[in-house]
Amino acid sequence: LLNINASDKVHDISDILYGIFIEDINFAADGGLYAEMVQNRSFEFTNLASDNEKHAWSDVGTVTAKVVKGDKTGCLNANNPNYMVIENKSDSDAGIANEGFLDGMSIKENTGYDFSVYAKGMDSYTGPLNVKLMNGSDVVGSGTIENVTAEWKKYELKLTSSVTSNKNVKLQVTIPKGKIAVDMVSLFPQDTYKGRKNGLRKDLAEKLEELHPGFLRFPGGCVVEGATIETRYNWKDSIGADSSGQPFEFNGTYGDVAARKQGQNIWTDERATNDKYPSFMTYGLGFYEYFQLAEDIDAVGVPVINCGKCCMGQSDGNGPSLDSAEFKQYIQDALDLVEFCRGDKTTKWGKIRIAMGHEKPFKLKYIGIGNEQWGDDFFKHYEAFVDAFNDAKKTNPALYGDIELMFTAGVDDGDSGKDVYMEAYNEAATWLKAHPDKTINDFAGAIDHHYYNEPSWFLTHTDYYDEKNYSRTTDNMTTSTYGGGMNVFLGEYAAQSNTWKAALSEAAYMTGLERNGDIVKMAAYAPLFGNLTALHWSPDLIWFNNNTVTSSVNYYVQKIFAKNAGTTLLKSDMSGATVASKPFAGKVGVGTWNTAAKFDNAKVVSNDNGKILGKDTFTKAENFSKYWEKATDGNWSVKNGKLVQSSDVTNTVAYGNQGSVAYFGNNTWKNYT
Ligand code: AHR
Repeated sequence: LLNINASDKVHDISDILYGIFIEDINFAADGGLYAEMVQNRSFEFTNLASDNEKHAWSDVGTVTAKVVKGDKTGCLNANNPNYMVIENKSDSDAGIANEGFLDGMSIKENTGYDFSVYAKGMDSYTGPLNVKLMNGSDVVGSGTIENVTAEWKKYELKLTSSVTSNKNVKLQVTIPKGKIAVDMVSLFPQDTYKGRKNGLRKDLAEKLEELHPGFLRFPGGCVVEGATIETRYNWKDSIGADSSGQPFEFNGTYGDVAARKQGQNIWTDERATNDKYPSFMTYGLGFYEYFQLAEDIDAVGVPVINCGKCCMGQSDGNGPSLDSAEFKQYIQDALDLVEFCRGDKTTKWGKIRIAMGHEKPFKLKYIGIGNEQWGDDFFKHYEAFVDAFNDAKKTNPALYGDIELMFTAGVDDGDSGKDVYMEAYNEAATWLKAHPDKTINDFAGAIDHHYYNEPSWFLTHTDYYDEKNYSRTTDNMTTSTYGGGMNVFLGEYAAQSNTWKAALSEAAYMTGLERNGDIVKMAAYAPLFGNLTALHWSPDLIWFNNNTVTSSVNYYVQKIFAKNAGTTLLKSDMSGATVASKPFAGKVGVGTWNTAAKFDNAKVVSNDNGKILGKDTFTKAENFSKYWEKATDGNWSVKNGKLVQSSDVTNTVAYGNQGSVAYFGNNTWKNYT
């Protein structure tokens, strides 16, 4: 019997325990969630595609189509230096066509698409600019832009597709005889998630909403670290900043995707199974859009920012020296992020958020500093962030007062993980000792744990965060099995396959997370998206291609837990000794039990096809004693053929299973073989 006392509360469970983690791995953002259909829309690929600026583009007709680089005065803006010049000297239409991402563009019959382009007529050319949606050689949607000016200007059109097609669909931009420059050639489905401009693929975003996530961690992962410090993810680039990190004004506004510098993604082509596809980031799905998505799915945005070091596995974790002005800028960037999310129109970065269209502050509480980084040098970097935020909390409590930083600790690969993490707990303890006036929360709101292990690891570690293993006080944070004292952000985890076995082991593990929801504040499966056409990492939670999306079995586990998340842990215990539906196919004394058996107070209350000496009690159980005698933990003995615990006989049940004996009593299950 399971006894639960509704008024006997053990502790509250974090109200944002189950969340999601989005990283642009497996082409999850560009070519995935971000609904842009044109690949290499601003011709910035260059070295990211083996110096092929025309990557994803092909010529149409007899044309000279060339990417112009290094034209500082004639380009669209400094963050978008390349553009395409199309020159047609023939008597037929000619120009360029884009093939889309990965497995190409997908279009639906009678559906609208938003086309836009920046263009300028050259050598007095004023138009037209013909835009066509092609399905193979058939025109299945078209429009024309007239009166093109000699200066860069944005032009927009709506195209409607007359067919449904997921193969060989291209977007063509052509002109009759003449010369024109184009940039930011873009095509979005009109039906994006929540109908947002520069929006997200509806089917993929709805999958996220259905998960009921409490938080959204973004944008990485290794993506944040970068393969080199120069190619790290800089949140300011993702909303449009100039080369010195200041807000970048373009066409009288801020945040325009045409004014965002493109970035190189750490998940490069060599890591993908299909090396045809270079990996880059348009930042079209940038920090603004991530926070907007978090709000749309009713989650708290949990940004992760670079700590001043790149990926340790890639370039030995290089970065600027601790005392350099360059490193101080990383800290300033973190402080500015809070202002971007919370500041009003009188603040420098709050004003940018408002200009981008979000008057209300974005929800923010936790900021991850670094990802999977560890060691003394990382600790010193982290400590500098801590000092700066603690100062900011004092000088501007309204803006920074409740912000919590998260310390990272590397990745647990099963056996050695304990040691990897313990280094971080030692560092935290050292910090506390040196700051006797501070609490552990002044150091870290949580420690970021990651693990990608076998299903068996998850099954055997459901008690990982139980108090016996993970201390609730800082006193024992370095002596408990897995550390303690700090709240936990389980930023990434997954049992290594998309199978029932893995999903069930994750479910078992999640019961442990929920039971310890006082100390485990957030947890997210990773990675979130797997692109069926080109892949860096598997297993993943959600699989997609250009027109479909599929949930893994692991997805349903996440969904069940998040939709039915507990709020409070109540005290419970097991009494009676009912073993319900325990699969059973062994021998007990005389007679065979083929299926489940139920016990109550040492009495068999049901047993399918089973026989025990023709009786339903254990009172004549001499035949069992040979097994029971093996219950040798000291508290148990056999009296009158019964398995007896000195003070408690009623909670006792025993069964034998192919030579083993188990007992069940007071919530404990043990096997004796
Ligand atoms: O989730 C995939 C990767 O795994 C993340 O980028 C990184 O943090 C971890 O190693």
